[in-house]
Amino acid sequence: MSKLQQEVAKRRTFAIISHPDAGKTTITEKVLLHGQKLQKAGTVKGKKSGQHAKSDWMEMEKERGISVTTSVMQFPYRQSLVNLLDTPGHEDFSEDTYRTLTAVDSCLMVIDAAKGVEDRTIKLMEVTRLRDTPILTFMNKLDRDIRDPLELLDEVEDVLKIMCAPITWPIGQGKNFKGVYHLYRDETIFYKTGQGHRIQELDVVKGLDNPELDKRVGVYAEELREQIELVKGASHEFDLELFLEGELTPVFFGTALGNFGVDHMLDGLVDWAPTPQGRETDQGEMIHSDDDRFSGFVFKIQANMDPKHRDRVAFMRIVSGRYHQGMKMKHARTGKDVRIADALTFVAGDREHVDEAWPGDIIGLHNHGTIQIGDTFTWGDSFKFTGIPNFAPELFRRIRLKDPLKQKQLLKGLVQLSEEGAVQVFRPLASNDLIVGAVGVLQFDVVVHRLRSEYKVDAMYENIQVATARWVYSDDAKKFEEFQRKNDHNLALDGGDNLAYIAPTMANLSLTTERFPDVSFRHTREV
Ligand code: G4P
Repeated sequence: MSKLQQEVAKRRTFAIISHPDAGKTTITEKVLLHGQKLQKAGTVKGKKSGQHAKSDWMEMEKERGISVTTSVMQFPYRQSLVNLLDTPGHEDFSEDTYRTLTAVDSCLMVIDAAKGVEDRTIKLMEVTRLRDTPILTFMNKLDRDIRDPLELLDEVEDVLKIMCAPITWPIGQGKNFKGVYHLYRDETIFYKTGQGHRIQELDVVKGLDNPELDKRVGVYAEELREQIELVKGASHEFDLELFLEGELTPVFFGTALGNFGVDHMLDGLVDWAPTPQGRETDQGEMIHSDDDRFSGFVFKIQANMDPKHRDRVAFMRIVSGRYHQGMKMKHARTGKDVRIADALTFVAGDREHVDEAWPGDIIGLHNHGTIQIGDTFTWGDSFKFTGIPNFAPELFRRIRLKDPLKQKQLLKGLVQLSEEGAVQVFRPLASNDLIVGAVGVLQFDVVVHRLRSEYKVDAMYENIQVATARWVYSDDAKKFEEFQRKNDHNLALDGGDNLAYIAPTMANLSLTTERFPDVSFRHTREV
């Protein structure tokens, strides 16, 4: 095996998807504890204690106690090196979350076992289905009164349309949570309370029929044996191929808070989840991770992560080849060769310089406005990786300056923030208005806050009658021109100068779509 193949084989790059409050932050903490990156779990977050997650970078997050940024954490686990891409938990930041999911090779779905499948999980699962990303499942909060485990599996199968293969099975729940039985190792692992902040010594009994089990858990032993028989009959067996195709999910039970079961999930991740996968180009070619020519794409741009480094960082997922400090790469969109002397890597919020990085890794490039979301970097060829979407905003406001002399600064700020994907900006062809479009309401606050702190402009919003926007295209130049002529009062350019139709109402949109069948109105735009 070449060095490149060895590095690829070691890596697993994943993200966690869940409904707010299901326990994503707590699991992240325990995962890092197992990765021995944090001495003591609990430093990631403590909303109430006033401690803040190492991954909480922006001031906004601290004020609101939510995670706005996407951070990247790398840690070793067994023989592997795991990259965990944190996704913003708040529903307002769905665009960032969606794009982060294009940069991973598998996902962990965390479900609050007292609640079952919730809205946001459904939405995020839809996104992972676009690329058939393999999914692992963690049923969390077993130390509470949860729903019937078999019923939970049924719900996942029904609602999310994915087969469930339980890997572990819980013994008791709530105050009587005793531990789990591992169906494939044929062993019972016992739960001890009060071990949330350290790696526990495993307390294990081999074999389901072992009388030791009866001694330890009494009546629960017989109940477990019956349940396991039932579960084996009623659920699916783990099948690696179906998992890799995204059709079956291995399911683990545990409590993130009690730090129990997270290691079983991590074992599943390193044993089964795919190594860094290749990506398709706009030329229909697949670039594989073991291709020794360097390539990668930018899925996220973040400003101001650390007040000490007031710069913008472009997050790049390496697709193929090796990054090394000082190397030259081609910025495909501009056609320019750039020398990268100081890429960053992210270890739970600490920024460190790396000398090399490999497929599946995320590196941060300092960006002075030339890099945009979706940009591809290559060894020298000109192509673009596909599949990084921009979503049509659903909320719109007109943005106005308090000091009209700063119009130029405002425009510059908005265009830069839209390049980052923080917000979308539309400039109507027929007026001097600036319309800000967002997928979630909180984005508006973030924009005003950042305009003030980074661009020194004070802006405010006014309501505006806009229901939605669609990017418009047509193969028929004449018809397109006619369309533009008749609709110029509803047309606008976005931050990247793409033409969009701004619909005052949904009824107007459907009417216009009908009247101009040769024009396509798109809900997403490839960045
Ligand atoms: P999120 O990132 O998905 O939004 O969830 P987070 O980890 O913040 O967890 C949400 C709440 O659920 C937190 O309580 C957390 O302590 C709790 N929690 C997480 N895992 C478990 C578990 O296995 N068992 C139990 N009983 N609770 C769990 P909180 O009081 O809202 O916040 P905090 O003050 O603890 O931060």
